[in-house]
Amino acid sequence: MKKFFLSLMAMTGVLTMSAQSIYDFKVKDDAGQEVSLADYKGKVLLIVNTATRCGFTPQYKDLEPLYQRYHAQGLEILDFPCNQFGQQAPGTIQEIHEFCTANYGIHFPQFDKIDVNGENAHPLYTWLKEQTGGGDIKWNFTKFLVGRDGKVIKRYESRDEIATIEAEMQMEVNPVLSNIMARRSVRKYIDKPVEHELLETVALAGINAPSAMNRQNWAVRIIEDQQVLADVKGMCRNAPNLICVCAPADGRFDLDAGLMGQNMMLAAQALGLGTCIQTGPIRFLTTDEKAKAFRDCLDIPEGYKLLYVISIGYPDEAPAAKPRDAAKVKYIK
Ligand SMILES: Cc1cc2nc3c(=O)[nH]c(=O)nc-3n(C[C@H](O)[C@H](O)[C@H](O)COP(=O)(O)O)c2cc1C
Repeated sequence: MKKFFLSLMAMTGVLTMSAQSIYDFKVKDDAGQEVSLADYKGKVLLIVNTATRCGFTPQYKDLEPLYQRYHAQGLEILDFPCNQFGQQAPGTIQEIHEFCTANYGIHFPQFDKIDVNGENAHPLYTWLKEQTGGGDIKWNFTKFLVGRDGKVIKRYESRDEIATIEAEMQMEVNPVLSNIMARRSVRKYIDKPVEHELLETVALAGINAPSAMNRQNWAVRIIEDQQVLADVKGMCRNAPNLICVCAPADGRFDLDAGLMGQNMMLAAQALGLGTCIQTGPIRFLTTDEKAKAFRDCLDIPEGYKLLYVISIGYPDEAPAAKPRDAAKVKYIK
C-alpha cells in the first residue's frame, strides 16, 4: 500500500514537495537529453517560459543583451518554451530554437517544451510557484530570479520592466552588491574568537570610509581580551569580539562614525563573519557598575562618547532578509 502511494506521489509530481532546492530538479534540453539543474549551482538564474508568437516575444531583444552583459559574471537564462498560453509556442523545440536564433540571435540555452500550469506542469514550475506564493503562471514571459544559493528571489510578471529585473539581478551577480545583499544582523555566534588578522582587515575597511574633510573624527576599540568581554558580553549578543566606535560627544561626527561602521560590517561579511550593530547596550556600557572595568580599558579620548558597538564573530544562525521598502526612494526625472 505504502509503495502504491509513493509511486502515485511520484507520478503526480507530489515529489516536488520533498525537493529541498532547485538543484534537485531535472529538465530536458533541446535534444531531449536530461539535464540536472545541479549543473547550475552557484549561478544566478533567470528562468522564463517563452513563446515565439506572443506579443511579448520581442522581449528576447532584452534578454539576449542581459545574457551578454552578465553571463561571464555568473548569470544563466533558462528558457522553457511553453504552448499553454494562446498556443503561441507551436512547433518542435528545434523549430523554436531556429526561430529564436535567426530572429533574436540568442545564445542562452533553450530547453524542451514544458507545461507550467495544470496537471502536467513540470515539477520545477510547481516548485517555483510554491516558492513565490502559489499562483498559476499568467502568461508567456513570466520570470523567476534565483540567487546563487538556489533560493527564489522574486517572480516577475510578463509586463514587469526589464530594467527593474536587471537592477535586482545585478544585486546578485555583482560580488560587491551581493555582499551588501547578503549581510544580515547576526545575533548568535559560535564560541570562537575571530582571528586577529581578520579584525585588522575589518578595521582597515572601517578607517577607509569617507569622513568630512578626511578628519577621521572617530576612535575605535576592538575588544579581543575575553576577560574584559566577560562582564559585558551578555548585553551584546554574546559575541566573542566587540568593536566599540566612539565619536565626538557633540554629535557633529556621528555620520562619519556610522559610515565607518557599515564599511566594517560589509568587510566582515566578505570575510565570512557575522556582525550586529547595536546602540541598545550603550546605556549599560556607559553607566552600569558591572561595565566599569570594560569602560576603564576603552580609553575613550577626552570629549568623545561611545556611540555604538558592533558584535562580531562566526555566525551560528542565518537570518532571513527583512523586507525593505523601495517606496522610500523616489526618482525625480
Ligand atoms: C543605529 C542602529 C542601532 C541598532 N541597535 C540594535 C540593538 O541594540 N540590538 C540589536 O539586536 N540590533 C540593533 N540594530 C540592528 C537592526 O535591528 C537591524 O539592522 C535591522 O533590523 C535590519 O536587519 P538587518 O541588519 O538584518 O538587515 C541596530 C541597527 C542600527 C542601524
